[in-house]
Amino acid sequence: MEQNMDFSTVRNEYQQMALDENTVLKEPLKQIALWLEDAHKAGCLEYTAMSLATVGANGQPSVRKVLLKYLMAEGLCFFTNYESRKAIAIDENPKVAALLFWPELERQVNIEGEVVKVSAEISDAYFHERPFDSQISARVSNQSSFAPDRKSIEQRWKTEAAQWGNKLVERPSYWGGYQIVPQRIEFWQGRPHRLHDRIVFQLIDNKWNMQRLYP
Ligand SMILES: Cc1cc2nc3c(=O)[nH]c(=O)nc-3n(C[C@H](O)[C@H](O)[C@H](O)COP(=O)(O)O)c2cc1C
Repeated sequence: MEQNMDFSTVRNEYQQMALDENTVLKEPLKQIALWLEDAHKAGCLEYTAMSLATVGANGQPSVRKVLLKYLMAEGLCFFTNYESRKAIAIDENPKVAALLFWPELERQVNIEGEVVKVSAEISDAYFHERPFDSQISARVSNQSSFAPDRKSIEQRWKTEAAQWGNKLVERPSYWGGYQIVPQRIEFWQGRPHRLHDRIVFQLIDNKWNMQRLYP
């Protein structure tokens, strides 16, 4: 394998669709819903996956994927471990950014806002929708902590699974949902000649203000 790789000629022309001030929905969360439906219809793989960026007290950004599970009037909801690296950063600084990207549709959505924990009822309801195996994994994973080896993780899983058998698995207190309450949402649609469409919504005095950005 080449150690130095040259991607300078890798280039795609984006030309499928346009995004316009007149047709974009004035409620940006509804526009996200519309684009998620389009992504689903187009068969985009993991179309609910979003990159979630956090910045903890030390100012170092970190990013990872999480799955969007509920799109609600108040924001976007995902589930994770409340003691994970991302959760520690969120405790220190609730400001986050999230990115949805559907390359097949030449579209991205950028979301910035603050996260709040969802209610225990919402976390319980979603936890119990998950398959048994995933429920057990959530219980045994000290997400983001150092692990001695794979074998011991699998052993913990087996021991835990055997304990629950056919019983309703209890959601551990260290696992649950967060909701991103957006302040800024930007829609990006790829266009020919790199003259892309960008429409940004910013929440000002509780109202969404819409503007076009230069590409
Ligand atoms: C497509 C995809 C979806 C993922 N969804 C989630 C998720 O919904 N929740 C979660 O905690 N981790 C999810 N992960 C794993 C995270 O990216 C990450 O490895 C994990 O949450 C630990 O992150 P942290 O150490 O920064 O807290 C997903 C990974 C991928 C690639």
